[in-house]
Amino acid sequence: MRIECPGNVRLQDHLLGQGIHILTACGGRGNCGKCAVKVVEGTAAINTMDRLWFTEAQLAEGMRLGCQVYAKGPLVVEIGD
Ligand code: FES
Repeated sequence: MRIECPGNVRLQDHLLGQGIHILTACGGRGNCGKCAVKVVEGTAAINTMDRLWFTEAQLAEGMRLGCQVYAKGPLVVEIGD
C-alpha cells in the first residue's frame, strides 16, 4: 500500500490519523524493526536506529523504521506487501 504523507508531521501520527496501523511491537522505540516502511518519494533522514536494522543498500532503497520517521517535507511511503 502506498501512502502520501504531508510535511511537518511524524509519519506514525499521520498513519494513525488515517486509520492505518503499522506494527509497533516495541512502542515506537526503534527496538523491534517491525514497523519497516519504504520511502519511495521524498527524503527521510536516517537515524541511528535505522542503521541498526537496515543495510546500507536497504537504506539507499529508502527503508526506514516507520516509528522513527519525521516527514520534514511530503513523502510517499510503501507499507506492507
Ligand atoms: S515500532 Fe519497533 S522499531 Fe519501530
